[in-house]
Amino acid sequence: MVKGKRVGIVGAGNVGSTIAYSLAMNGSCHEIILRDNKIEIARGKALDMSQAAAAVRSHSVVIVAESMADMTDCDVVVITAGSPRLPGMSRDDLLMINANITREVIVGVAKYSPNAIVIMVSNPLDAMTYVALKESGFDRNRVIGMAGILDSARMAAFIQEKLGYGGGQIRASVMGGHGDDMVPLPRYSTVAGVPLSDLLSADEIEEVVQRTRKGGAEIVALLQTGSAYYAPAKSTVIMVEAILKDTKQIHPCAVYLEGEYGYHDVVSGVPVMLGANGAEKIIEITLDDSEKEMFDKSCSSVQSLIDTLNSNNFFEGE
Ligand code: 2OP
Repeated sequence: MVKGKRVGIVGAGNVGSTIAYSLAMNGSCHEIILRDNKIEIARGKALDMSQAAAAVRSHSVVIVAESMADMTDCDVVVITAGSPRLPGMSRDDLLMINANITREVIVGVAKYSPNAIVIMVSNPLDAMTYVALKESGFDRNRVIGMAGILDSARMAAFIQEKLGYGGGQIRASVMGGHGDDMVPLPRYSTVAGVPLSDLLSADEIEEVVQRTRKGGAEIVALLQTGSAYYAPAKSTVIMVEAILKDTKQIHPCAVYLEGEYGYHDVVSGVPVMLGANGAEKIIEITLDDSEKEMFDKSCSSVQSLIDTLNSNNFFEGE
């Protein structure tokens, strides 16, 4: 059989299945392989999506992996598996439970899809990206966290709401970890090339910044039974397609830093050039003192999660 592009998706909950649906509708790859412990639900969703793909004359098919051993030879694997964030729960509360799930999954990915580029989606995002990198043994370009595209999209939507115009022309920029200390960058945000500071007052910009930081929690509080999935899924699909199509475009992504921005052995969100080899280049932009201070604070929040994993001997465990 001719092998086309294959994308594996671990976790067929709202985020995972919305990613699969979007890829199938776009015809982004030949096969989408869904893996979930709730196997019958995964089967039902896969059938439903394959039928939707047929309806739009997409060549993509959605199939199910009964176990990680069936998720073979994927070009990209997206990991969404994990306990969801519920009301009142911070992303960090999920740390130990999702670290164990991530380890179990990534060991399977490394074994059965050893050449895959891995996109992490599970929270707390930056720490889970770190866990996936360490436990896979992959080079750092092959383990990338999704968050910056999502956080930047949220910021763009809030700018549009404030302005009442400019939709589709907004380039918002967010760096740092995907947590309450993320670093929205108004100075690097524009509407049709016009700097934000020429369009909104300092107070209005600050409101956008604060709302962006709490963008995930705002949706959790409304949904009550889970967290956002349309924008997280779409953001992930942008990354998957950039890798499959080798676009070499720059997107904010969470990656392992080895000296960039003055950091080592930590994961944070920075502009990254994505291509067939994953995170092919990390772009270092100039941060002013206050932006650097915020970035430092965000990195130390991620570092404290890594410290917690270390103090629980996580990386020495099974
Ligand atoms: C979000 O920001 C829960 O991290 C997820 O929507």
